[in-house]
Amino acid sequence: VHANFAELPRLQLSTFDVILADLGLSSPHLDDPTRGFSFRHDGPLDLRLDASRGEPASALLAKVEQEALTLALQRYGELRYAPKLAQILIAKPPTTTTELRARVVDWSGWRAPQLLPQVFQALRIWVNDELRALDTLLAWLPTGLNPGGRAACISFHSLEDRRVKHVLRDLSAPPIDPLTGKRGYAPFTLLTKHAIRPNDDEVKTNPRSRSALLRGIMKSS
Ligand SMILES: C[S@@+](CC[C@H](N)C(=O)[O-])C[C@H]1O[C@@H](n2cnc3c(N)ncnc32)[C@H](O)[C@@H]1O
Repeated sequence: VHANFAELPRLQLSTFDVILADLGLSSPHLDDPTRGFSFRHDGPLDLRLDASRGEPASALLAKVEQEALTLALQRYGELRYAPKLAQILIAKPPTTTTELRARVVDWSGWRAPQLLPQVFQALRIWVNDELRALDTLLAWLPTGLNPGGRAACISFHSLEDRRVKHVLRDLSAPPIDPLTGKRGYAPFTLLTKHAIRPNDDEVKTNPRSRSALLRGIMKSS
């Protein structure tokens, strides 16, 4: 099924023994300049995970309101001084990764190496509405599992991991009777008290795994 996580509730799929949500972008995306994900390659500023739908970042930047872009940069890139950057991007919307890179470098000076990934990440999350898709996936998860089934998510930054952590923790918290205060049985068991990270060897052979965080739950049978 070729679909966005945001469509999961509407797809009416059967239920599963194992669900693994491997979030974020994939290496082929990053390595293909025509997809516009990398500030290291010149290419059209697209940033869509699924280029068969929606509009590229360049088209959205040409029509977005300054306030909405500021909010996206603040929320998804945790960027200070986002209003100024939003103003710069809207005054002359970049159409290629090189143009976006140049605007960010002019704006941020010596802090560019740190800020470039944050700006590209923020715009990618915004273009794909990634956090809303993740929220929908997480809300669907409990219904998508068979009894005894397991679900796990690999997230790649704190905005994703925070959501995954809270939802999985809530699902595995025993319900408390409001009158007696007695604890009931939780419908899920948390499989990872702390997120599992790649070990040093894995990061050495696959540097892109360095920020991966895996969390999982099991549905009671
Ligand atoms: C880290 S990669 C997974 C790679 C895959 N496990 C493999 O081994 O090839 C993440 C993938 O999830 C997809 N993805 C990200 N957000 C999505 C969403 N909201 N809905 C559907 N797919 C999404 C991306 O397009 C990307 O291909």
